[in-house]
Amino acid sequence: MNFESAKSQLTKVLVTEEQIQSRVAEMAAEIDAKYEGKEVLLVGVLKGAIMFMADLSRALNISTSMDWMALSSYGSGTVSSGVIRILKDLDAEIHGKHVIIVEDIIDSGLTLSWLQATLTARGAASVDVVAFLRKPAAAKVEVPVWLVGYDIPNEFVVGYGLDYNERYRSLNCVAVLDPKVYS
Ligand code: XMP
Ligand code: MG
Repeated sequence: MNFESAKSQLTKVLVTEEQIQSRVAEMAAEIDAKYEGKEVLLVGVLKGAIMFMADLSRALNISTSMDWMALSSYGSGTVSSGVIRILKDLDAEIHGKHVIIVEDIIDSGLTLSWLQATLTARGAASVDVVAFLRKPAAAKVEVPVWLVGYDIPNEFVVGYGLDYNERYRSLNCVAVLDPKVYS
């Protein structure tokens, strides 16, 4: 689905395609500077982070490898439950590795604080968190996030990997979903 065909189900665009690309380039430059000379494991959180991971990883100059986890805190609703389940674990051990968690969005922060603690407990040399979006008004726990792309209002958003019932992930911008779609 592209923007034109989804337009009638969106109330506003929060981050345009141009803003996404320029912010991703800035974030990649910060990662390159901090991790110069190091080998980094990018851990993407499925499925929301796929687009951000694809763009960020290609914008980096440092040497990276990639692994993925799938976590569940949501079901098909729009409110965080705080209950985290591992649906798919990492393929490889992370002991001694420099890990960067690549997340689509921080809402309550419950998913990320759990994930960061879990990967740290597995013996990673370091665990940094990079998230493309954050909803500061929705925070329930403090997550030590290193880099955030954009802070957005506390509304349900779709696009750039984010879905509602698996739809809208392919939109090339981040937009607010019209509540009439889910109410
Ligand atoms: P928490 O509350 O644990 O939630 O920080 C993080 C996860 O919840 C999903 N999420 C969203 N997905 N539009 C979405 O499509 C949203 O506005 C939204 N807010 C949270 C997302 O999977 C994220 O990783
Ligand atoms: Mg996610």
